[in-house]
Parts: sequence; structure tokens; C-alpha cells
Amino acid sequence: MANISFKNVVKTYDNGVTVIPDLNLEIEDKEFVVLVGPSGCGKSTTLRMIAGLESITSGELWIGDKLVNDVAPKDRDIAMVFQSYALYPHMTVYKNMAFALELRKVPKDIIDQKVREAAKILELEPYLDRKPKALSGGQRQRVALGRAMVRDPKVFLLDEPLSNLDAKLRTEMRTQIAALHKRLATTFVYVTHDQTEAMTMGDRICVMKDGVIQQFDTPQTLYNYPCNMFVAGFIGSPQMNFIQAKVEKDGDVCVLVFNESRIPVKDEAILPYVGKEVIMGIRPEDIHLEGFETSCEKASITARLNIREVLGSEMNLYVTCEGQKLTAKVLYDGNVKEDEDVKLVFDVNKIHVFDKDTEAAICH
Ligand SMILES: Nc1ncnc2c1ncn2[C@@H]1O[C@H](COP(=O)(O)OP(=O)(O)OP(=O)(O)O)[C@@H](O)[C@H]1O
Ligand SMILES: [Mg+2]
Repeated sequence: MANISFKNVVKTYDNGVTVIPDLNLEIEDKEFVVLVGPSGCGKSTTLRMIAGLESITSGELWIGDKLVNDVAPKDRDIAMVFQSYALYPHMTVYKNMAFALELRKVPKDIIDQKVREAAKILELEPYLDRKPKALSGGQRQRVALGRAMVRDPKVFLLDEPLSNLDAKLRTEMRTQIAALHKRLATTFVYVTHDQTEAMTMGDRICVMKDGVIQQFDTPQTLYNYPCNMFVAGFIGSPQMNFIQAKVEKDGDVCVLVFNESRIPVKDEAILPYVGKEVIMGIRPEDIHLEGFETSCEKASITARLNIREVLGSEMNLYVTCEGQKLTAKVLYDGNVKEDEDVKLVFDVNKIHVFDKDTEAAICH
């Protein structure tokens, strides 16, 4: 069992700065968890605490049924892969993978078996006799993974392992790492800045800000039910639009008033906000050009098109409506021109409402 459990973990660095104020996080055995958040929010610190490369100021860190606060990194059964894969340049691919096992005095035949097995899975067999400088970035990254694999760790920690690779290789390696996770059936904790990696690889995504977990859930739940404006803005690209709107009552029904629209909100959680301003959230992909054929309930607005960004079959429209800037991601239409007014519709069922002061979600 290699579930990982943070209980009230605090991390204060030697300079007196507390970067993790009180972390409670339960990662399940064999789970693939992705940590995301802005630069400096404590992702690497969290990973390094699991690895034992950073001490824990207070609280408890459990791996399986073992309290590991004071367990040395080498005794934690963990392998870590970094952004800079740091291979030994003078050693062959084979030796790079075998080295850690040799240090542990593992018998030669077992080392050989493990290295060849890892090389087979990672498609590195043709390169075993090469030195790292004779490999591509993606091949080097695979060697770094192989080096971690041969140790049969209970937990894999990966800190932005693909950020040095170009877009095509990233996509390839993303699929390979996901397949590796399935095959090895071990716990993976993966740090990334990349939206697509987070959304496609994680069983669950942990969104952090200033060392505090904002939301920890499946990619789909984070996308559909973000708990606050930070998560809503962080997950999804282009980012969700936030629009100031007023809550009014039309008879028994609460409505969000914005531009030409009065958008009904059925959820009773909106009731205390009647007469007040709220923030309405809508993703660019849930705004369409008027005339867009779907059965969804729609609300229209008129906006001025500032910039049109064509992406083949789709286009991003950057518009202004009543002084508020919005982004819409719509199907390509050559008739839509910059510096003209454009009629857009919101898919009413995809609207999120947030409290203006606390930024917490009121309803979705
Ligand atoms: N050894 C250290 N001593 C003091 N402060 C540190 C140390 N290492 C990191 N920090 C600080 O702790 C905070 C969290 O750093 P961390 O590296 O965990 O962030 P991160 O989320 O991984 O960021 P990035 O996305 O840029 O890699 C930052 O403000 C950083 O400056
Ligand atoms: Mg980092």
C-alpha cells in the first residue's frame, strides 16, 4: 500500500517564511494525482517533502502505514523525476539506469533483468549503449523515467518532467507516462503547469494557491463545478469569463441582469443576493455566435469585436460589452469582422455564479 497522507503539515523554510501553512491531503494507493497552481505556491515543496528532500516543520506525513517524518529519503521507497533529468553524462543509458541498483549491491543478473525490462517498456532498447548526449530530449527523459522504474518504487514523484520538451514530444510522453502508470499500478504524484497534462493525466487534480489547497477533485468536477473564482480561472483555456451582473426578481424567478439579457437562475442559493451584484462566470466555449444551432437555452448579448483569432475550424473572439472584456470560442465564420458589433449567445445552463466579496461559488 502506498497511499500518502498529509496531516496538518506545516513547512517553514529556514528564512522564517511559511510556505505551507496547514496541509491536509489524502492521496490514494495507485492514484495519479496532479498538483497545479501558480509559480511559488508550494508544489515542489510538497513533492520534496514526500521524497524526504525537505524536512517537515510540524504535522505528520504518512506513506502507507508508516509515519515518515524522520525517515531518510533512501528508505522511503520513492523515485523522483525532475524537470532537468540530470543523467550522468559519462555513463551509457544502460549504466545510467543500473547505477542506483549497483550502489545498493543488487545482484548483476537482477539488475540486468530490470534494466532490460524498463528499456523495453520505454522503447529504449536500441539506445542502451549510447551516452546521453547522443539522445534526443524525449529519449533522455525516458532514460530518467527508466532510472526511476528499475527501483520498483512504491511512489513516483514527477516535478514538471516534460517542460523541457517541444509540443509534439510532450504529447507523446504524456501518453507514455499515463500508460506507464496503468502498467506499473503505483501511486504517481505529478506537478505541471500544463492545462492539458493536468486535465488528461490526473485521476484527481489538486489546485493550490499560496500553499493552501483550493479544490482536490476529478478533472471533470473541477471543470464543471469549480468551488471558487480562482479554480474557475485556473482550470480551462482560454480562461473563464467573469462578468459583473445584478440579481433581480421577475415574479418568483431570480434573474441575472446583464446587457440585453435577463438570465433565470433556479438554484435557491441565489435568493440572498437579490438586489446585489454578483460575478457571473461563463467559459469561452459556452458562448456562441447568434444563430448557433443547439437545443440549449440561450441568452443574447451584443458586443464589439476587438480581435478575431482564427484557429482553423474555430476562432477566439475578444469582445467588449458594457465596458467588460470577454472571450468567446466559436465555430469559424468568415462574416464576423473586427471593429463591428457581434451578437453572441450564452448557453444558460453553463453559467456559474460567484460571490463578489468571497469569490466562492454560489451555484453552477
Ligand atoms: N530552500 C528555500 N528556502 C526558502 N524559501 C524557499 C526555498 N525553496 C522554496 N522556497 C520558497 O517557497 C515557495 C514555494 O516554492 P516551490 O518551489 O514549492 O513553488 P512551486 O509551486 O514549485 O513553484 P514553480 O511552479 O515556480 O516551480 C516560494 O515562495 C519559494 O520562493
Ligand atoms: Mg516547482
